[in-house]
Amino acid sequence: MSGRLGTRPDAAPFSLGAVAKANKRACLDDRRAFIFSGTIVLMEKVVHTLAEFDAEAARFAASLIPGEGATFITLSGELGAGKTAFAKAVALSLGVKDVVTSPTFVLEKVYQLPEGKPFQRLIHIDAYRLEKGADLAPLNFDELMRDRGNLVFLEWPEKVADALPKAAARIMLTTRPDGSRILSYG
Ligand SMILES: Nc1ncnc2c1ncn2[C@@H]1O[C@H](COP(=O)(O)OP(=O)(O)O)[C@@H](O)[C@H]1O
Ligand SMILES: [Mg+2]
Repeated sequence: MSGRLGTRPDAAPFSLGAVAKANKRACLDDRRAFIFSGTIVLMEKVVHTLAEFDAEAARFAASLIPGEGATFITLSGELGAGKTAFAKAVALSLGVKDVVTSPTFVLEKVYQLPEGKPFQRLIHIDAYRLEKGADLAPLNFDELMRDRGNLVFLEWPEKVADALPKAAARIMLTTRPDGSRILSYG
């Protein structure tokens, strides 16, 4: 449908075809944004330094609003891409003082958030060592997901995909040869 509209000589400036073409151009020229009906929606962000990375994580955290049940975010990417760093930066930005190192050996870390935040708890789960969705059961995962006060970040969703609800955001981190990171939000 969009192709036909786009090829019409009298096509309106914001026809679906024009938007599709603009999208393609925006994505090719600058991997950070695409245009939908004239509105620029940020889908990808390139960050060069840890400070920029932390600021982006803080921006993302500040944009979250509790919905029905827990707010669930997945973090994907190779080892060392920055999944744990992202969750830590979110924790710091929400006022957590005692952010611990990677929970890879802990599996789950629960942080109580200060009064006045939209969420009561930040829960950081690292599923790297898990093999299947049922392995989340000891964490009372289903119960965690029912509480709208919970903001849940989960690394390695691929390992437990069969047990996961729909995520509010799926973040993919990619390391570029120069060490900068691409953050893609899906
Ligand atoms: N621009 C950057 N963005 C994010 N992390 C970076 C950046 N540059 C260096 N790093 C480092 O990369 C490492 C990422 O590790 P980590 O977050 O544990 O990865 P993962 O959890 O994806 O395996 C951290 O030590 C972090 O300090
Ligand atoms: Mg990690």
